[in-house]
Amino acid sequence: MTEKQEKLEALKKELEAADLPLKGSANLVFGEGDINSAVMFVGEAPGFNEDVQKRPFVGRAGQLLDQCIKEIGWQRADVYITNIVKRRPPENRDPLPEEIEAYKPYLARQIEIIAPKVIATLGRFSMNYFLPFAKISKDHGKIFQAEGRVVFPLYHPAAALRATAVLNELRDDFKKLPAVAAGKLAVPSAADGTAAGTASPSPIKRPEKPAQARLFP
Ligand code: URA
Repeated sequence: MTEKQEKLEALKKELEAADLPLKGSANLVFGEGDINSAVMFVGEAPGFNEDVQKRPFVGRAGQLLDQCIKEIGWQRADVYITNIVKRRPPENRDPLPEEIEAYKPYLARQIEIIAPKVIATLGRFSMNYFLPFAKISKDHGKIFQAEGRVVFPLYHPAAALRATAVLNELRDDFKKLPAVAAGKLAVPSAADGTAAGTASPSPIKRPEKPAQARLFP
């Protein structure tokens, strides 16, 4: 086991043991994928299928996510996928602010261990975790910098399943992802805590070298 794997296993065990909201009513869905990937997708919270399988994005929204990943020539196994809240809220309701708060520190540590170059957020909850002032309809598909990483907000695939216009936007934004991951696209439109669209006081830090051969041949 690599050091990274060990740290993630330890974090998972800690999460399992911690007295957190939703514990007791749902399974832990920690996250999965290539822990050395340059790209980490962060969704909202597991749904019914994710709870049953203890894996993120395996229901209909997950199938669409897989399809979008394939359309840009990647595989699901090339990226890392997780959620902010790591247990399913009852009836698939939106996660409550206190649930997000309680699980936040664990996501922060998961990100620190995996150290992706790009965090692709799925939906507004995840986007607002990194970019509190961003608006999904205006800021999806733009490049931001937050907490020292590139953040690339995407629509949630579940929203894309409900509206063709959103699906088209999601697929278009996905097409930019390889260039974003390779640090080839222009500088961000917002920085930590600033309103989206305002100038960034600190320009984006481009990846110095490709983090993963498979994504950047
Ligand atoms: N929606 C999410 O935000 N996460 C999942 O894992 C599944 C559906």
